[in-house]
Amino acid sequence: MSTRKRQPSTLCVQGEHTQTSGPAVVPIVQTSTFVFENQQQLLDSVQGKTGKDVYTRWSNPTTKNVEEKLNALEGTEDTHVLASGMAAISSAIMGLVKSGDRILSSDSIYGGTLHLFNKIISQSGVQIDYVDTAEVADRLADSGSTYKLCFFETPTNPTLKIVDIKAVADAARAKGTISMIDSTFGSPINQRPYELGIDLVMHSATKYLGGHSDIIAGTISGSKEIMADVRSAAKLLGGTMDPFASFLLDRGIKTLGVRMEKHNFNAKYLAEKLSNDSRILRVHYPGLSSHPQHDVARKQMDGFGGMMSIDLDSDLTGTSKFVDSLEIFLNAVSLGGVESLASIPALSTHYGLEESALNEMDISKSTVRLSIGIEDAVDLLNDLMTGLDVIGS
Ligand SMILES: Cc1ncc(COP(=O)(O)O)c(C=O)c1O
Repeated sequence: MSTRKRQPSTLCVQGEHTQTSGPAVVPIVQTSTFVFENQQQLLDSVQGKTGKDVYTRWSNPTTKNVEEKLNALEGTEDTHVLASGMAAISSAIMGLVKSGDRILSSDSIYGGTLHLFNKIISQSGVQIDYVDTAEVADRLADSGSTYKLCFFETPTNPTLKIVDIKAVADAARAKGTISMIDSTFGSPINQRPYELGIDLVMHSATKYLGGHSDIIAGTISGSKEIMADVRSAAKLLGGTMDPFASFLLDRGIKTLGVRMEKHNFNAKYLAEKLSNDSRILRVHYPGLSSHPQHDVARKQMDGFGGMMSIDLDSDLTGTSKFVDSLEIFLNAVSLGGVESLASIPALSTHYGLEESALNEMDISKSTVRLSIGIEDAVDLLNDLMTGLDVIGS
């Protein structure tokens, strides 16, 4: 068999090993439990000596197939696929951090993660310090006390700030801190943080990995050593992926390479067009040379993804009118699917926050988050242009 390294698009379709017999598509093993010939075989399997599955909350062949594919894509030793992105984050944190430990987190992270940290993790005697996205590596380097874990997201949700992944990885290694990234906006096609020295890479696989807005799923990948603690916690917390959802996730990943090419193309095309429109105050997209961290993005990303935010020269009423008038963009939260979506963070994901809190995150009441899908780029542009004309009318 050839030892040539497979490229990401090949890994998406076939993983590291091409099927040589049996079904071309990995079957859905829709079972909660597995049968053994005798007690010794069951015991050996419980002790992990046989590699056989025992109970689907612990492992399942359909899910293991996706886990192997993700290892190949991320370059990691072990991946665990879970029932949601939040299950992946909570299992990792609860598996690795205990009372008395400290976490350093970047301040621009997904709202659900922020609530998990503030409402649940901090209640178990863990201190969480927040730092500006631009200062994560410096704070780690300067920290006298040792952080057990450093958590960050890049590109960030919703204003697409970029954190220098290698700088954080190096600073964390120097301090013996476990580094963990939420790489959802990047996808393993556009960025591979493990190769840059990050210890744990997580995704909300609900987004680009699944790609069709039809499953909720999460992944967490890293070395076997660190993942052993994550897996033990995940087993007990029970955020288990259903085998049917694993099948859909695998089916989604097969087209991840080609989908990301189109997301990258469409978003860059639209970002460039929109940044020349006087009715838009600012386009947040890391692929634009005007983006403050464009050089960092170019260094660590192979493509800039399909997510962007635009600040309209309007108020909340005008911004709502804009989103309501779109015909191709769906009026919905979430992201990373084949269909384009538009949402207003101030009215959805960040609803209820004071204007000052929104400003700190670079979000205004006229910010619209766009998840650019894989439809025709000109159709998408025309839809946005019609929406802009409606505000002006
Ligand atoms: C960046 C990011 N991380 C994590 C999550 C949580 O993922 P899930 O909804 O799959 O639990 C989301 C959900 O929107 C997200 O956008």
